[in-house]
Parts: sequence; C-alpha cells; structure tokens
Amino acid sequence: MSQINRDFLSLNDINRDEARHILEVSRFLKTGPRDTQHSLLRGRSVAIVLEKPSTRTRVSFELGITQLGAYPVVLLSEGSQLGRGEPIRDTARVLARYCDAIVFRTTTTARLNEMAGCGVPVLNALSDDGHPVQVLSDVFTIEEAFAESGKNGAIEGRTIAFVGDGSSNMARSWVRAAKLFGFRLRIGAPEGYTPPADEVAASGGLVTVYNDPVRAVEGAEVVNTDVWTSMGQEVETGLRLSAFDGWTVNEALMAKAAPGAIVLHCLPAHRGEEIDAATLEGPRSRVWVQAENRLHVQKGLLCWCLGVAHNVRG
Ligand code: CP
Ligand code: NVA
Repeated sequence: MSQINRDFLSLNDINRDEARHILEVSRFLKTGPRDTQHSLLRGRSVAIVLEKPSTRTRVSFELGITQLGAYPVVLLSEGSQLGRGEPIRDTARVLARYCDAIVFRTTTTARLNEMAGCGVPVLNALSDDGHPVQVLSDVFTIEEAFAESGKNGAIEGRTIAFVGDGSSNMARSWVRAAKLFGFRLRIGAPEGYTPPADEVAASGGLVTVYNDPVRAVEGAEVVNTDVWTSMGQEVETGLRLSAFDGWTVNEALMAKAAPGAIVLHCLPAHRGEEIDAATLEGPRSRVWVQAENRLHVQKGLLCWCLGVAHNVRG
C-alpha cells in the first residue's frame, strides 16, 4: 500500500490533480456499492477532536469512518484534558500512537499546526481561517448540480459568488478554492468584513470583492452564504446584525444571479438573517444534498490522506 500520509489543513495543501482525484474517489464512494467499502480502512482508527460544537462534521466523519471499516473515537474539549489546558502538542503525540489519522476542529491556525506533524495525517474540520473539508465537498455538490442540469460539470472557468462575511472561515476557503480549481469568485461583503487582501491577491485575479450584494451575484451560477456571526464571535452579534443589514440572500437577490443559479449554505442557517426561509427551502436550494455530500467527500479525502484512494474503483 502506498503511504501518502498527508495532512489536509487547508485547500492550499493539495494541487488540482490531487483535488480532482479526491473528488473522483468520492464520486465512486457515493455511487458505488457500499458493501465493499468497509475493507478500505479495515482495522484502523481515527480520532475526531472537537473544540467547537458540530452536528454535520461530527456525524459525517464518525459514520464515514465506520463505513470505511475504521473505528472513530470522538474527543470533545469538555470532559477531556484538552479542556483543562493540556497542550495540543502532547495530545497530538499521544493520539498519533493510538490512531491512524486525526480530524481536528479548533480555533486558531496555531492550534491546528500544533496538532499537525505528529506522524499521522491531520484533517482540518474547521478553524477560524478555513473550513476546507466543507468547501471541497461544496465543489463536489456544485459539479453534481451542473451535471444534473445538463451542463458540462466542471467548475473550472465558471462564476461563483459568496455573499456575507467575506472574512469568515468559509469565505476564505472559497478564495483558496478559486485558485485551486480555476474559477471566478465574486465575494460580496460589507466594508470591514472582506477577506484578507493578501489571500485575494494570491488567487491571481480570480477573486473580486464587492461591497454590494447585487454586483457580487451578477452572472453567478452559484450563490453561497454562511452565518454572519461565526462560532466564537457571539459577543459581536449585535454589531454584525447592523453591519449586514440588507445583505440577506433572498429571492430578489437570486433574481440578479445567472438564470437557474443555485444556492448553497454550509449550515447551520439563521433564517431571516443571512438567508430567508423561502430561498433556503426553495427550488434553487441544494443545501440538503450539500450536507449529505460531506459524508462522501470526507470518505474520499480520508482514503487519499491514508494512501488507499487507488483501491477505490467505480
Ligand atoms: N457545516 C458544518 O460544518 O456543520 P457543523 O458545524 O454542524 O459540523
Ligand atoms: N462560519 C461558521 C461555519 C459553521 C460550519 C462558523 O465558523 O461558525
């Protein structure tokens, strides 16, 4: 078996060929027979360490790991020594002696980097500056939707919008995704909530930032949004509700996007804030299959990080 043993901390950690391979493996895992999948990671174990709340990430990783034949161990801050201040580095070294990979949801890049390099692959399951497993999976969902509508499925060269907090982990992973896959990204965000200028510049001109939601969605075939107040920012809720007033993704805004444009939201959603209920529940919304695809794409990613992706066949 080849030993890839790669971390996945950011979308900058993989190149386009590797991303394409992971998505192809994910498609085989989604559409192929389930009964043979349990042999792919049989006998292995994967730690899922969560320093922030989670529903989708926890359940999709825990079940995905089980479906691949491995054993998932969930460790929460509360009830573990992490919550009492044990250094991440010490936790990482111990977990690496028990487990074959670590899935980690945390606050800072510093904590993520401290977990990485411990001898087993570490996968970023959300940090303050990125949510790469989500956005990789969202690219899969978009290409699935394009293919279903009879268009060429590839995201390359297409126009995608993100409307909301452009400084959020989700928006910043979208910026990295634009460069990775080669699509145009239009970010609509109020002043003060735009992505870091150096990250936008690193996209090589593929990302444009607008302080106007209507301009941002013009020509976009996909409109993404996310909460205005991310986990850990709750003290800013009032301020953010004012700053984002008028930035709700609703049917009037979607009418300005490309004909047939779809809506994505990584969830959890706050109806009436970043998206209205009619749009979230309406025909343009792909959010439920978007949530489902986390399971398939994370399975593909785990197979790739652990060097067994070549064993997956459609
Ligand atoms: N989208 C997402 O990561 O959801 P959870 O916070 O529920 O894991
Ligand atoms: N931006 C959100 C994403 C949640 C999945 C947060 O960090 O809370």
